[in-house]
Amino acid sequence: MKTKRADLRLSVQVGKLDDANAKALVVGVFSGGDISDAIVDAIDAISNVSIRDMIASKEIGGEFKEYTLVHLGTGKPVERVIFMGLGRKSDYYLDKIRSVSAKAARTLRKSRVTEMMVCLESFTGFPMEIVAQAVTEGTELGLFRQYKYSEREDKRVALDSLVFLVPDAEREAPVLQAAREGKTLAAAVNRCRDLANLPGNVLTPSYLAEQAEKVASSHGMDFEAWGRKEIEEKQMGGILAVSRGSKQEPRFIIMKYHGGDSDGPVAAYVGKGITFDSGGISLKPAERMGHMKYDMAGAASVLATMKAVAELEIPINLIGVIPTCENLPDGGAYKPGDVVRMYAPKHVEVVNTDAEGRLLLADALYWACEQDVDFVVDIATLTGGCVIALGTMVAGVMSNNDWLCRQIIESGITHEEKMWRLPLFPEYRIQVRTPVADLANSGGRPASASTAALFLQEFVDRPWVHVDIAGTAWIEEDNSQYFHQPYLPKRGATGWGVRTLTVLAQEIVEASGGKRAELAELLKL
Ligand code: BES
Ligand code: MN
Ligand code: ZN
Repeated sequence: MKTKRADLRLSVQVGKLDDANAKALVVGVFSGGDISDAIVDAIDAISNVSIRDMIASKEIGGEFKEYTLVHLGTGKPVERVIFMGLGRKSDYYLDKIRSVSAKAARTLRKSRVTEMMVCLESFTGFPMEIVAQAVTEGTELGLFRQYKYSEREDKRVALDSLVFLVPDAEREAPVLQAAREGKTLAAAVNRCRDLANLPGNVLTPSYLAEQAEKVASSHGMDFEAWGRKEIEEKQMGGILAVSRGSKQEPRFIIMKYHGGDSDGPVAAYVGKGITFDSGGISLKPAERMGHMKYDMAGAASVLATMKAVAELEIPINLIGVIPTCENLPDGGAYKPGDVVRMYAPKHVEVVNTDAEGRLLLADALYWACEQDVDFVVDIATLTGGCVIALGTMVAGVMSNNDWLCRQIIESGITHEEKMWRLPLFPEYRIQVRTPVADLANSGGRPASASTAALFLQEFVDRPWVHVDIAGTAWIEEDNSQYFHQPYLPKRGATGWGVRTLTVLAQEIVEASGGKRAELAELLKL
């Protein structure tokens, strides 16, 4: 793997546009060429061109994602300006800043420009720190390149320097701090993308455990990764059943981050870690089966979130739980008709070996609840039905707690990770009934996202949210996600969930004042 990756350097230049020095300057502009007169005059004063004329002739228009690259003339301290359209002022929101930053960074990189300066003043409407953070997130996310397996040298250039132009020295420290936080979060998302993109022969359960251990040990977390033997000793029948058809040993990964006080909130994030889902004996069709290497996107999301939460020093106690194995068919594989005794005192009839995720998650959720947590969130590429219901731009959420459910949806909104609540009506329960055991592992095709969640609900005894990211974790055939949010990749893993889960941890601390007793009250609302 020789794909060139550069670390994005962050810095601040204090001063007016007149004394700025840059290879490229990014200026935000609203519909109708709406930029402040001061900025237009300043650029016109330092260049051989007339921005005012370009606005008048509508060459600089300001429609969302439209851009105009202008060279100011050789030998000028600012060599070029890229005007990035933000659309109508009445329809302006933070995520647009991420989008245009990504677009600007990619456009400049294509022109072999290695440095990008951002005129923070042109992005009105938000505090400068907030803008700087969003710009950094968009840039870091937008510059992401997937690893290519090749012996050939990557000759492409990297844009590796992001500079913020701020008007006064007072802003320097807070802007830099906010930008660093943005970079931390976005880098974690990129880490998640890398993991989910890795092929199944590279990213095995043991590889995932090694990566998790690296994160844990570099951030002072407690770490455990049980192998088949320990999982057998614990009698985690769900994980054992699914892993039986594969030569790869399963892992049960536990990462414990102690960021909060001893009376602070305790949460568990559980991620589905099927490193390849062939469907097992209930084999999937050959077409696009290769995509099922991303069936561990939930696990990747949890791993990367643990990293982000620790690096941002969010004062919460958080347990990351990743049950992981392959779902393959061999002579030892579990079969339709098998009955499995779960880690919980429940028996499940396997009616479809392709409904494997819930078996893994049920064991992990039950274990997480035993750890005396205040609430549990699981994130999983769980059902094709969720993709049919909500498409690729919206994740499904199902929950037994209204407050927690609202909280996670709101956490996602700040980063344009959209979620929509799907029902957990008891009426659906009949679909996962079987005369043979307590539960069947599949309720068939109708409302399959909901019946999967109903299955999981049987294994939790406290506030819980289930997030189905089968549609949002990956971009392939249609690039509509990329179209709406150009900081997402055109194809491959999106890193969905890292930002929502990180913000959720922050919001929980804020709402509860860092006290689990307070949180308990909120969870009763
Ligand atoms: N990993 C799949 C779900 C999936 C589908 C993820 C498409 C991403 C894209 C899951 O294990 C699965 O196979 N689910 C089945 C369940 C069914 C057998 C009840 C499904 O949704 O078809
Ligand atoms: Mn499956
Ligand atoms: Zn699966």
